[in-house]
Amino acid sequence: MSPIKQVILNKETQINPVWIMRQAGRYLPEFRKIREKNTNFINLCLNSNLSAEITLQPLKRFELDAAIIFSDILILPYGFKQKVEFKKNLGPILGDLNLDQTLIVKDNDFIERVNPVYKAIDLVTKNKITKNKSTIGFVGAPWTLLVYILNKQSPKLNLKKDFFKDQFLIKQTLNIIEKFSKIHIKNQIDSGAEVIQIFDSWAGLLSVKDLDFYIYNPTHSLVEYTKSLNVPVICFPRGVKDYKKYCEIVKPDVICIDYEIDPKKIEKQIKIPVQGGMDPKILLTDKDTLKKEATKYLDIFKDHPYIFNLGHGILPETNPNMMDYLVKTVKNY
Ligand code: CP3
Repeated sequence: MSPIKQVILNKETQINPVWIMRQAGRYLPEFRKIREKNTNFINLCLNSNLSAEITLQPLKRFELDAAIIFSDILILPYGFKQKVEFKKNLGPILGDLNLDQTLIVKDNDFIERVNPVYKAIDLVTKNKITKNKSTIGFVGAPWTLLVYILNKQSPKLNLKKDFFKDQFLIKQTLNIIEKFSKIHIKNQIDSGAEVIQIFDSWAGLLSVKDLDFYIYNPTHSLVEYTKSLNVPVICFPRGVKDYKKYCEIVKPDVICIDYEIDPKKIEKQIKIPVQGGMDPKILLTDKDTLKKEATKYLDIFKDHPYIFNLGHGILPETNPNMMDYLVKTVKNY
């Protein structure tokens, strides 16, 4: 059994598997080289050979325990025919969602549009480099996808003022997201993904009274669905603050924590396996600080099933040597 599955299923505490969110990406020169020649990001995600190659790049350099498929959470709206573009320095820009058109998109249409992702997963899992490692498939959580689909860009600055106004649109859109997310999860699993992670990057934007409707209920539905396929699920509700309550209601197999939450408090409060936590900015400091911070997390979770990761994606300005040092620090702990 792969180390990540030993932690998740057997609650093993003596091993410290490690993978890093955004481990395939811009901090690697070999990724930038491919990216320069492939200016359309969505097309790159839909090029199965290149996507598989990029997925494997970090595994060739570092002793990681998982491959996370090189794709994006916004492949989902692309699959149901909303326009999705990535603009340099701006991030993702989406077109208007046309409900009438989206409601008639057939399951098979969606699968056909997204199929290169499934092919890439197949290539990755068949490659000998991933032997005894977990291939992780993923989706965006319904709330975070709703934010991009209706806000049409990153809410980094703010959500559009009238975001919550059209409740009919919101309900219909959440249903569409849930339906296609399940299809996407199922197809990733059928192609070889052995763990699913649900990214809720904007969980922190909601007030407590809205959590049931936008986060707990729709995410729990995806968690139950994934579990019914006998595949473990990791949830990452960034910024949610009350992680304990989230775990009780959403019931993931693993909870991935962000870097703003106190890991000691998590260790005491939460019984299920934990993943992540360390601030990605630590990788921009020096080796001593990095070793100290990584060891802090490993010490806190010494007797707790724990998968080492960061508290958000690795930053593009990270020196790959620091990543190497981090992975070695975890492995030699
Ligand atoms: O983790 C991995 O290595 C797997 C691949 C992956 C990507 N995006 C590739 C990517 C995963 C799991 C994601 C998830 C994702 N995408 C999230 C959730 C996690 C998070 O970061 O909060 C979100 C919110 C998105 C949407 C998205 N995609 C944004 C906002 C951006 C632009 C900002 C940025 O970081 O560049 C992207 C682009 C993107 N997705 C890149 C990569 C490697 C950068 C593309 C490039 O310009 O080369």
